Amino acid sequence: MSAILLNHINDVKTYIYKWKNENLKIGLVPTMGALHSGHVSLIKKAKSMCDKVVVSVFVNPVQFGPNEDYDKYPRTIEKDKMLCDELDADIVFAPSANEMYGENVKLSNTDLTFVCPPYNYIDCMCGKSRPGHFDGVATVVTKLFNIVQPDYAFFGQKDAQQLYIIKKMVKDLNMNLEIVPCPIVRESDGLALSSRNAYLSADERQCALSISKALFEIERLYNQKITDANILFDSALAILNKNLELEYLEFRNFDTFEKVDKICKNTLAAIAVKIGKTRLIDNIILG
Ligand code: PAJ
Repeated sequence: MSAILLNHINDVKTYIYKWKNENLKIGLVPTMGALHSGHVSLIKKAKSMCDKVVVSVFVNPVQFGPNEDYDKYPRTIEKDKMLCDELDADIVFAPSANEMYGENVKLSNTDLTFVCPPYNYIDCMCGKSRPGHFDGVATVVTKLFNIVQPDYAFFGQKDAQQLYIIKKMVKDLNMNLEIVPCPIVRESDGLALSSRNAYLSADERQCALSISKALFEIERLYNQKITDANILFDSALAILNKNLELEYLEFRNFDTFEKVDKICKNTLAAIAVKIGKTRLIDNIILG
């Protein structure tokens, strides 16, 4: 079956209204497109749990900083649509920025209502180097939830801080849906799939391989009962390619998001690096 490509909010709402009347379970997979196997795993999970699946494809301007890659972010809607056809998704929702935020609107909190996640969860890791990013994410995700009214929404653990913040937002604001976390999908050599991998030259990609290698080394040592975060940090550092710029490597309790010195069950080891102009993130959950 081919998925229906919709660009307008009201057209999506018409389908949702019909499906709700038929008591069908609706799943939402929010994406920025340039779909890869990571996204595919989310869509497959959604298909397995829901009667109807909506995949949103929207490069959300308000989650990009002024010097980030909004303009050059890959946009491949025809390919994305074909993949959604193959996966039997029901709707591909690909709105324009004007459709989402209105015409002639300044995309800032002077003119728009924003959803702002709590300071403790955004003043660290990716939030530290990307001010306003998680406000933009929480805002667009809230809008998508309001438009699609899903029973389930599917998010990758690849963006662990995003996943944590969205779960927190759903709880804090009593949103009426369940967030389904999905494991990280990797290339056979360990590199976590990301739409931004497309920016990497062959040399840079080789260099990027050291990111997952460093995380796997942390996991290997942890499995040998080494739980001191400093030791694990140094061991990872020794593996990271010297040509990449480390932004952070942190250990956090994935239940509370607090930093930990001693690793225990459900500790998130998360990393962000820059390789040339490309920023990449990855993580593992230990225990
Ligand atoms: P995007 O980067 O397109 O990712 C969409 C979803 O795919 C996210 O939940 C992300 O965690 C998941 N994903 C990406 N790479 C993955 C991988 N290798 N394995 C498993 N899941 C993976 O994240 C965003 O878009 C945006 O911030 C969005 C939530 C759509 C809001 O604009």
